[in-house]
Amino acid sequence: MAQLWGGRFTKDTDQLVYNFNASISFDQKFFKQDIEGSIAHVIMLQKQGILTGEEKDAIVKGLTQIREEVESGSLQITSEYEDIHSFVEANLIDRIGDAGKKLHTGRSRNDQVALDMRLYTRLEVLQTDWLLRELLTELLKIMEDNIHTYMPGFTHLQKAQPVTLAHHVGAYFEMFKRDRLRLKDIYKRMNYCPLGAGALAGTTYPLDRAYTASLLGFEGPTLNSMDSVSDRDYIIEFLSAAATIMMHLSRFCEEIIIWNSNEYRFVEIDDAYSTGSSIMPQKKNPDIAELVRGKTGRVYGALISILTTMKGIPLAYNKDMQEDKELTFDAIDTVKGCLALFTGMVKTMQFRKDIMAQSAMRGFTNATDAADYLVKKGVPFRDAHSIIGKLVLTCIDKNKSIDEMSIEELKEICDVFEPDVYDAISLETCVNKRLTLGAPGPEAMKDVIRICKDYLEDEWQNKDEEYLQ
Ligand code: ARG
Repeated sequence: MAQLWGGRFTKDTDQLVYNFNASISFDQKFFKQDIEGSIAHVIMLQKQGILTGEEKDAIVKGLTQIREEVESGSLQITSEYEDIHSFVEANLIDRIGDAGKKLHTGRSRNDQVALDMRLYTRLEVLQTDWLLRELLTELLKIMEDNIHTYMPGFTHLQKAQPVTLAHHVGAYFEMFKRDRLRLKDIYKRMNYCPLGAGALAGTTYPLDRAYTASLLGFEGPTLNSMDSVSDRDYIIEFLSAAATIMMHLSRFCEEIIIWNSNEYRFVEIDDAYSTGSSIMPQKKNPDIAELVRGKTGRVYGALISILTTMKGIPLAYNKDMQEDKELTFDAIDTVKGCLALFTGMVKTMQFRKDIMAQSAMRGFTNATDAADYLVKKGVPFRDAHSIIGKLVLTCIDKNKSIDEMSIEELKEICDVFEPDVYDAISLETCVNKRLTLGAPGPEAMKDVIRICKDYLEDEWQNKDEEYLQ
């Protein structure tokens, strides 16, 4: 047991209590951020005349060595320390002696851990955003290649009206684009530095908090020391964004699972992204899509868990907050892993365009257009709706689609029908005439694809400035 606070105690901590209280098994995940924060802190302490130049140099050198040795594996982070902060500080003191004991001047583990977690999460927001961008790039390629790939559009999972693959995938493009906007927004709000808040009430040392904040790439320091050590809003916001990303991935996965089924066969998932059965030799299962769908619950769980943990915590720091870490790390690793795998799966997936088009031609997806045809010939829409309803019933009876009916058969139902109806209700017409912005018609799609492309390019060019300051 190596602790930073033995002075006022007369007994050792019970071993079970020590184990229950310790966080080193998981907070070692941000050892780099802990060291980065400490280096900025001592540079500021020296600028303010609180440490000498030699002390600062010795501390920075010692901390840098610790980071390098941990990274190379020559120094192991072990459970004999309570947390990562104790591990780093104890190691520093072992190395450089008395100067090391000054590292924690004007600081508490409360503002230290608040900083470490913020630095860690801030980087993960950027990495998640990067993975979303990779996914959007793949989706855009599919859209560009498939503005003429017809497929049925569904409501209630019943065939509704024909759309194109570009249009269907474009719906997900919009969802993931909004996810990125959420991350960007969260990043801006979280990008303030809590260091200098001390345990809860600041410190009497003349710290320059704005300077530390700028050294660490923050927009500025936080403005209330009690809020600084007890704010976990940015974690909640990030997990909420992560839960929404997972929900979007899960919906897409659900569709891919349906499309990949023996009944639909709209897509073929690549062998590299499928698995087999130990007993049924014919099986090729969409396990990756199922796992992404399944892991969604885990990320939702993290969000609900942190919301519940935070709801009863009085100001300022309380140990409950240590519970923010494991679930956040797990949720972040999960969402990043799912994004990377999902992108790989979509990139390698084959679309069976002929089967999609055939499917779009069955199931009366042109019934609305048949009604609109009658409307254009002067029939009021409500009457046209009813006529086409009867026509569909007759077609079901004869096991034909509307366009397989002869003109005589059509005229029997309504004598307004003329031979030009076949062109008016063909699959091509049904899709190509839908030209309002956001609709599946190829010309409308081309406009949207151009906007999507510009978004990816522009946003990338402006990224450094806006996002990384
Ligand atoms: N491991 C702690 C956490 O994650 C660090 C802060 C400890 N502060 C304290 N007053 N015990 O929250």
